Amino acid sequence: MTESLVSVGAVNFDVEKIRADFPILHQQVNGQPLVYLDNAATTQKPNVVIDAISDYYRTDNSNVHRGAHALADRATVKFEAAREKVAAFLNAASAKQIIWTRGTTESINLVAASWGKANLQQGDRILVSAMEHHSNIVPWQLVAQATGATVEPIPVDSNGSINISAFENMLDAKVKMVSVGHVSNALGTINPVEKIIGLAHAVGARVLIDGAQAVSHWNVDVQKLDCDFYVFSAHKLFGPTGLGVLYGKLDLLNAMPPYQGGGEMIETVAFSGTTYNQLPYKFEAGTPDIAGVIGFGAAIDYLNAMDRVAASAHEQALLEYAEEKARSTSGLKLVGAATHKASVMSFLLEGAHPADVGVLLDKQGVAVRTGNHCAQPIMDQFGIPGTVRASFSFYNTFDEVDRLFAAIEKAKTFLL
Ligand code: ALA
Repeated sequence: MTESLVSVGAVNFDVEKIRADFPILHQQVNGQPLVYLDNAATTQKPNVVIDAISDYYRTDNSNVHRGAHALADRATVKFEAAREKVAAFLNAASAKQIIWTRGTTESINLVAASWGKANLQQGDRILVSAMEHHSNIVPWQLVAQATGATVEPIPVDSNGSINISAFENMLDAKVKMVSVGHVSNALGTINPVEKIIGLAHAVGARVLIDGAQAVSHWNVDVQKLDCDFYVFSAHKLFGPTGLGVLYGKLDLLNAMPPYQGGGEMIETVAFSGTTYNQLPYKFEAGTPDIAGVIGFGAAIDYLNAMDRVAASAHEQALLEYAEEKARSTSGLKLVGAATHKASVMSFLLEGAHPADVGVLLDKQGVAVRTGNHCAQPIMDQFGIPGTVRASFSFYNTFDEVDRLFAAIEKAKTFLL
């Protein structure tokens, strides 16, 4: 690392102490120490999360809200405590506003199906940015087909930023929903969501923010943002897979019809008519992912005990260090150059397919993602099949960035 780059990384953050909490990082892959740079796909899990899940199965396993016995009581208390932790983490006014889902994708599908079918009609407009993940496009297309609404892309500039003046020009009273990512998974762009929410609300539209790529980088305050819905996945926030969160404003959630029917979401069931449970259970049909929720509660505790401002500064320093190295690497082209970016570096090696680069990096122990990152429209706009994406978390090191670039140089000798 050069002197100028050392100063970029001069933040008070003990990365080795953090790394000791993540057992998976300490292994060899293809004969090399693992360099895990696929954090936008999923983050790794600290011991406290793994232990909370196995402890639950070893000592408390039982169904929640139902049983009249000690294990069921313990499971229920831990399950609901995790909901309270997530509410506090997001600064939601009430834990009733935290709905457990299977992930970001299901959270968006829930809002599109439930809020959308109740509120959209022929001629209504849904705006999503052109760089959205497919999970923030297709659910809206499905509800648009069912209701006669349209889904329209908000233009994205060549540097990967939402064109705010084009967005302002699109807004009118027919726009009923604006749904955008807080951070682009493909490009790393941090979108100006406060501004987007304010502009959308001025024409009476509702706003959903897909926070899947944001919550791992800084603390989000849903009341300050004033978003109508905020969604994310536990597995991208150091928790288990198969679990997600939907936050919504209380009046909207109360007015929305159920998404799925089954146990837990009902108050009374009769063939003459069924009534529904109160929030949040109205949207939680069936036995939930109890172990996952309890494990996620441990992930929130872990993050709360950490200096998240220092962690975020460390990630930004890693990104700046990597992008500075990228700019001086011949044949490497960065994709996405927004002014505000989270720790995602998408790139291409001229003359090489991203998938081939990914394979050669993996052979050297470096894990990245390649492809269109489930964001085909923005790849089509840029005229590329996809990118190689290195995405950093607070447990990554400057040495690992050096390993990435050494591996890129070696890959070039095979490919170019
Ligand atoms: N949406 C995740 C990613 O960007 C899976 O990799």
